[in-house]
Amino acid sequence: MAVQRTFSILKPDATERNLTGAINALIEKAGLRIVAQKRIRMTREQAETFYAVHKERPFFGELVDFMISGPVVVQVLEGENAVLKYRDVMGATDPSKAADGTIRKLHAKSIGENSVHGSDAPETAAIEIAQFFSGNEIVG
Ligand code: CMP
Repeated sequence: MAVQRTFSILKPDATERNLTGAINALIEKAGLRIVAQKRIRMTREQAETFYAVHKERPFFGELVDFMISGPVVVQVLEGENAVLKYRDVMGATDPSKAADGTIRKLHAKSIGENSVHGSDAPETAAIEIAQFFSGNEIVG
């Protein structure tokens, strides 16, 4: 399996509880490298574009409101099989269903306030990375 990149967001419930370092430690312990990272305040437009695939879902408004409610940390993670590896490290979307030791089991508050986002496929990762980073901000 070749080296891959995936896109990650540490969500407002994580930054609010000062968990950036604790979550980054779990990411690095899994063998993923943080090759780009910045703390930003998402605009409503950015959040709506990012989650456009969910715009018909009943939770869309709540999701966008949450993502702009506080700072987030956007990241590019690199490693062997990075997309699937990060999904394993995050655990299930619903923290009550997440495996022991995963970020969401350890830290998420609910299915909505679930601490982290990770891309679901390499193609999605490329689109999501391009929404927040230019090439020279990613240093592998
Ligand atoms: P994420 O991986 O960022 O992708 C879409 C997000 O929608 C998901 O994590 C959850 O935070 C959110 N989400 C999914 N299902 C629900 C739900 N039933 N209620 C509120 N938010 C949800």
